[in-house]
Amino acid sequence: MTNSNATPAKTVIVTGGAGGGIGGGITTVAAEAGWNVVIVDIDEGACQALSEKLTRRGLSTAVFLCADIATPGRAEEAVSFAMERFGTVDALVNNAGIGLVKHITEVTDDEYQRVFSVNIDAAYRFSRAVVRAMPPSGGSIVNIGSVHALANIQGYTVYATTKGAIDAFTRALAADCGPRGIRVNCIHPGLVPSPQNRELIHNFAEDVDAWLDSYTRTKQLLANLPTARQVGELVKFFLSDAASAITGQAIAIDGGTSAMLYERG
Ligand SMILES: NC(=O)c1ccc[n+]([C@@H]2O[C@H](COP(=O)([O-])OP(=O)(O)OC[C@H]3O[C@@H](n4cnc5c(N)ncnc54)[C@H](O)[C@@H]3O)[C@@H](O)[C@H]2O)c1
Repeated sequence: MTNSNATPAKTVIVTGGAGGGIGGGITTVAAEAGWNVVIVDIDEGACQALSEKLTRRGLSTAVFLCADIATPGRAEEAVSFAMERFGTVDALVNNAGIGLVKHITEVTDDEYQRVFSVNIDAAYRFSRAVVRAMPPSGGSIVNIGSVHALANIQGYTVYATTKGAIDAFTRALAADCGPRGIRVNCIHPGLVPSPQNRELIHNFAEDVDAWLDSYTRTKQLLANLPTARQVGELVKFFLSDAASAITGQAIAIDGGTSAMLYERG
């Protein structure tokens, strides 16, 4: 039996939403919560794998657009795709981001440019396209930053600068969009297990699991690393009506890393 009074499902675009870490966590939680999810991800294999996994679970409202978000025009394409499939775009999660661990003296201009193109230019263009398309009733944007926006270690000048920019962009965009009822918030994850960051850790640690173990014991107040699903749950909160009075805010989900004064013994 269909319920003709049911509120139509809302649609969220998630960049990098096919990822084996945070992106996949956000997509899964949003699909479970009944959202239509438009995933824009460069990795065709990951799109295919997540699509099959969600379909097996009966969560068939996620659709995939395989594209490089750093290419101009992709944001508008994603919005058109979402409008064609679902008739509305109510939310955006700027999740896709790439890392770089290199001392400033070794960073090439191409590397610098690529990290900025994906982490900043794309977030800017996707936000602009989505804000233009959002309904008069408003919407919600969540930017995925990083604890590297707040404090740092060696090798993160490029990545940290992009994440600091995302943090500032959140408040500036919230100011532009508040009068239209569009809320903009930012989540700064600490270390969340993902294929991407395992690869990055491998640059400076041969035994990635041992490094993660030691990190968990000494660099957090809590005993467990945050999970991709927990980040997804926080995104879900920001997208929901429960957060309707919250905009221009940033919150860390990092097991206490950013609150520590000294390393835990
Ligand atoms: N995982 C962490 O520990 C951690 C910590 C702090 C911040 N973050 C941030 O969280 C976000 C997700 O990171 P993650 O490591 O969990 O990865 P993830 O699992 O969300 O995977 C990232 C996805 O982005 C996609 N992607 C990368 N470049 C793209 C491009 N140009 N166009 C389209 N798709 C692209 C990849 O194919 C991948 O599927 C990033 O912004 C990252 O900087 C992650």
